[in-house]
Amino acid sequence: MSGIYCQDLVFEPASAENGSPSLAEVISALSFALDLTEGAVPGHALRSCLLGMRLGLEIGLSDVELADLYHALLLKDVGCSSNAARMCQIIGGGDDRAVKAGVKLEDWTRPYQPRLSALRLLWSNVLPDANPARRAARIVQIGLAQHRNNEEMIQLRCDRGASIVRKIGMSEQTALAVRSLDEHWDGSGYPQRLRGTAISPLARVMAAAQHLDVFASERGPEQAMLVLRERDGRWFDPEVVKAAESLRRRGALWPQCLPQEAQTAAEAEQCARSAVIDLSPGEARRISAAHIDSICEAFAEVVDAKSSYTFRHSVGVTDVASLIANAIGFNPERKRLVYRAALLHDLGKLSVSNRILDKPGKLDDAEWFVMREHPRLTRVILGHVEQFRELAYIAGAHHEKLDGTGYPDRLSAEDLSLEARLIGVADVYGALTEDRPYRRGLSAHEALKIMERDVPAKLDRNCFEALASLVQGDAENEPLVKSESMAQTRQMDAAPVAVLAEARLPAQVA
Ligand SMILES: [Fe+2]
Ligand SMILES: [Fe+2]
Repeated sequence: MSGIYCQDLVFEPASAENGSPSLAEVISALSFALDLTEGAVPGHALRSCLLGMRLGLEIGLSDVELADLYHALLLKDVGCSSNAARMCQIIGGGDDRAVKAGVKLEDWTRPYQPRLSALRLLWSNVLPDANPARRAARIVQIGLAQHRNNEEMIQLRCDRGASIVRKIGMSEQTALAVRSLDEHWDGSGYPQRLRGTAISPLARVMAAAQHLDVFASERGPEQAMLVLRERDGRWFDPEVVKAAESLRRRGALWPQCLPQEAQTAAEAEQCARSAVIDLSPGEARRISAAHIDSICEAFAEVVDAKSSYTFRHSVGVTDVASLIANAIGFNPERKRLVYRAALLHDLGKLSVSNRILDKPGKLDDAEWFVMREHPRLTRVILGHVEQFRELAYIAGAHHEKLDGTGYPDRLSAEDLSLEARLIGVADVYGALTEDRPYRRGLSAHEALKIMERDVPAKLDRNCFEALASLVQGDAENEPLVKSESMAQTRQMDAAPVAVLAEARLPAQVA
């Protein structure tokens, strides 16, 4: 069978000979999605992993601890999407990603001594559509409530992160490290205000590693070391700071973690990723198909947790897509491909601010530009894994239309495989039957009626007809998938769902 060409992506359809990727290959690629959510410089999780593993070795962690640390470093931000909607709400509909990225450069343990840079960050992002007096009042309000907000936001992220890490089969020590990422040596951190050696040693290393990368990426390695020293014994474990100093003096701290002249950003990311994969603890072994499925399910939850309006979207689209794939008669291998592509199709949405995702009105041109890039990012992230190339193409094509009017690449019928068309149909159905900031979700029959107008010009006739027969077989005229029961089946956490439901207030509530 010939390969399918899709812009920069050429691949051979999946086959048994392609084999499975290793765990390190999969999670190092998906870590790019986590960087997007945090507004971090791409490759942040990879560089943090390299820095943290060097620090861990230097302070004498055992092989078992280093293996746990490796996974924790790559997955440290896996809970980050769960507080994005809440962050957007706290700042009154501003850009959550910009604030999250900016806050990492601030000493947020001292809200009563605000720095000019922190005030500037808030001034540019808080209540963006309000007058100056209201914005100033909101900034004061945020300052007064900062400890409470920090506690709530960090607890949400850390609990969620630890829960996802457990679900994808990582050790309890890895989960605990993710949960304790924002604890500080002097007890000023969150969520438990742990102090000193009560904090997991892995989390103490991770805190320093992520700090080093954030500051080095934004302000250079000297500044990163300076702030590390300033917070020695306050935020950071003195032993870990000493290890960083020692590694730096020997020139062993920064390799592959700083941009090199004559190296593009993509080359630098690739270089960091290869170094991370080389470090993987005894994981040259391939992972099982079931384990890959569980990682895809976990990342679908990360995507869905981003917005109250899409908190059932990826899993809902997956159930619809799987039903259509079954009805069309796909073989088990193609069904599995559809399952994973549907779970991950909106991975690139982690790059979109909740200011855009949850906007109650129409998007302007600039916002649309950002929104239209998300399928391309899905494709790029998944495309990092050699064995996921076809998955990347299918997932990244979910907004393309048969007549070439879709995005991001205006592909047309001859470019779109049946699997890609199927995900496209399931995605439209999912979007129409879910609530959106500007309308209530439609009934199944209303959704089909609207979709029918686009068949066969934009939507595939076979996939649509399979969907229509499934809906007609359901006497209740309710959306095909009842997400609550599905959430229970997949043992999704109820808490983040409740928080998202609560966050579904008009974004600009002052
Ligand atoms: Fe999408
Ligand atoms: Fe979608």
